[in-house]
Amino acid sequence: MNNYIKIKNLTKKYEKNRSIKVLNDISFNFVSGKTYSIMGPSGSGKSTLLNMLSLIDVPTAGSIEINSHKIKSNNKSENDLIRAKKVGIIYQDKNLLSDFNALENVYLPNLLISNEKQKSIESAKKLIKTIGMSARINHFPNELSGGENQRIAIARALINDPEIILADEPTGSLDANNAKLIFNILFNLKNPKRIIIFATHNRYFANMADCKILMNNGNMQVTDASF
Ligand SMILES: Nc1ncnc2c1ncn2[C@@H]1O[C@H](COP(=O)(O)OP(=O)(O)OP(=O)(O)O)[C@@H](O)[C@H]1O
Ligand SMILES: [Mg+2]
Repeated sequence: MNNYIKIKNLTKKYEKNRSIKVLNDISFNFVSGKTYSIMGPSGSGKSTLLNMLSLIDVPTAGSIEINSHKIKSNNKSENDLIRAKKVGIIYQDKNLLSDFNALENVYLPNLLISNEKQKSIESAKKLIKTIGMSARINHFPNELSGGENQRIAIARALINDPEIILADEPTGSLDANNAKLIFNILFNLKNPKRIIIFATHNRYFANMADCKILMNNGNMQVTDASF
């Protein structure tokens, strides 16, 4: 099996008034084609782990390999490029740039790596159509509902056809119907070359993943895997 993301002895400590170990010597392989859910109490390190995987935050110790390439945590420009090309990220809210409309929010990340504006716009329009939001392309984020914002955020995360999708409580601010819609879209994004990892407090959605992970006391435990 192809191990696309390998984390080895990953540790994250915060030193403030006292030292807290949020991730404690975690080793794990995420495999292409699979979906992973991360559950665990508030403060257990779910977002911290996702921020390491998205290369936004850097570990205190340990390593991350993406497709056999060892990440150098001090090489910010290389990591920014890896993130732009390979990773799509969806947060609970505030995913979109408020001064740009839906279409611009979706095509801008593509423009950054391709520099072909018309092509970026066409791809964005296509994606927006697949999530049923074509009627809203000129709307600004504050003119969209919470569920609509999240749908556009998914399109934005997908514009560079990422091999890794990370979602941190993507439906945490939504009602049950919109949450179902978003998770339907998310699970439909599964493909053999892609890894989808999401953190959630919702057991029903967590159970839909191929592999269920529980974070607790800085440790990561697989509670169920169907492969
Ligand atoms: N910048 C920081 N400085 C100090 N401590 C931090 C920092 N960021 C996070 N922490 C601590 O790390 C721990 C893990 O936080 P994290 O956000 O990963 O939890 P979580 O599992 O995502 O929780 P939630 O379910 O509430 O989103 C918490 O105890 C938090 O207080
Ligand atoms: Mg969190």
